[in-house]
Amino acid sequence: MIQKPKGTYDVFKEQGKKIKYLEKLLSALMEKYNYEFVRTPNFEATELFHRGVGETSDIVSKETYDFLDRGNRNMTLRPEGTAGVVRSFIENKRYADASLPVKNWYYGPMYRYERPQSGRFREFYQFGVEVFGSNDPLVDAEVISIPVNFYKLLGLKGIKVNINSLGDTESRLSYKEALINHFRPHLDLLCDDCKKRFEKNPLRILDCKVDHELDIMSSAPKIIDYLNEESKKHFEEVQKYLKLMNIEYTVNPNIVRGLDYYTNTVFEVEADIEDFGSQNVLCGGGRYNGLVEALGGPSTPAVGFAMGIERLLNALEAENINIISNDLDIYVIPMSVNEKAYSYKLCQDLRMNGFNVDIDYMNRNIKANFKQADRLNPKYLIIIGEEEVNSSILTIKNNNTKEEYKIKEEDLIKFFDEVISYED
Ligand code: HAM
Repeated sequence: MIQKPKGTYDVFKEQGKKIKYLEKLLSALMEKYNYEFVRTPNFEATELFHRGVGETSDIVSKETYDFLDRGNRNMTLRPEGTAGVVRSFIENKRYADASLPVKNWYYGPMYRYERPQSGRFREFYQFGVEVFGSNDPLVDAEVISIPVNFYKLLGLKGIKVNINSLGDTESRLSYKEALINHFRPHLDLLCDDCKKRFEKNPLRILDCKVDHELDIMSSAPKIIDYLNEESKKHFEEVQKYLKLMNIEYTVNPNIVRGLDYYTNTVFEVEADIEDFGSQNVLCGGGRYNGLVEALGGPSTPAVGFAMGIERLLNALEAENINIISNDLDIYVIPMSVNEKAYSYKLCQDLRMNGFNVDIDYMNRNIKANFKQADRLNPKYLIIIGEEEVNSSILTIKNNNTKEEYKIKEEDLIKFFDEVISYED
């Protein structure tokens, strides 16, 4: 039998319901912040990720799904969303929009050739935002607050917000020099990858999964001590706004992020739940003021983040938070095939009036239909027999209280409008 590719998964049953519900919540959340939905291709020119995410990041150097298309073009399945959204921002000249900042959100599959384990897949889903055109620390704080508020709304308790600043170009240059001076005498202790990183981008050494336990790692200089006045002020302002929003955070100098494009604020939210496992970073992001220009656009400040949907589902499960909502309003039960057509017509009218309706498609007998109703758990049942069809007076049952009502067909919509709230 052909099986699914390693590191991928199928969605069905409860998991499907949970994911659809999360998607609905995320979409509603973005309406609250007035962010605009954007979608970019799942594959892009390979060069975009090399120039965008960076040659020295693991994601690009080791984990991309690259292929040559039939026209001999080098293509890559996107390992993350930012580079594509930035490309789209430039290509569609969104920088000329009168109403800056451009506040985008996106959702979709990403691809990384990683070693699969719990919370780490080769195809996974990210929800993310990218905000272009403002360098205001308030925007950094808003971007950090979006996932944190969302996790809180869902009821997640075990979350920890880590923030750091990588400073502006000037601050990073002096930090880079300090790192080079620190690591140069110990080059022989570093892994082969880190030796290359030393030449190309010494900051990446701090992110190494192989060397991370070496003493020279913990004794390495911290970027926070190399921030110039402007970067320091920006970082302080971000913290001021986080406090204003009652968002608890820790300044953690070890957060350097695995992608090359960051400047100034960076952050990660981790699940602080016992036995959660090593893949505990629920989301991450930060400012990337140089990327739009690096990819050929005008100099434009930007900030964003992305969260993994699979890790969020794991965290909800670990805290026993059930996010499945009961969305089915009405289940229609014809007593026999004679009432099927009438019942289906009713079903169509109810759906067109905004109700979520299901009907028996399997010609079940009444007993089996009640069992099916137990499984589907609708708010109401409509049971339709010969008498109902002839009299146009319908039998409605509240599936919760088991109370029964007799309602004229012409009053049916009015009845459900009153008893079923659209809000839930
Ligand atoms: P990232 O930290 O590489 O950042 O990924 C963001 C989130 O995606 C992670 O925190 C994690 O929840 C999830 N994730 C990453 N890799 C996997 C995987 N293999 N399996 C399951 N989940 C995964 C970015 O992607 C940046 N583009 C974020 C950003 C947006 N920065 C600025 N704007």
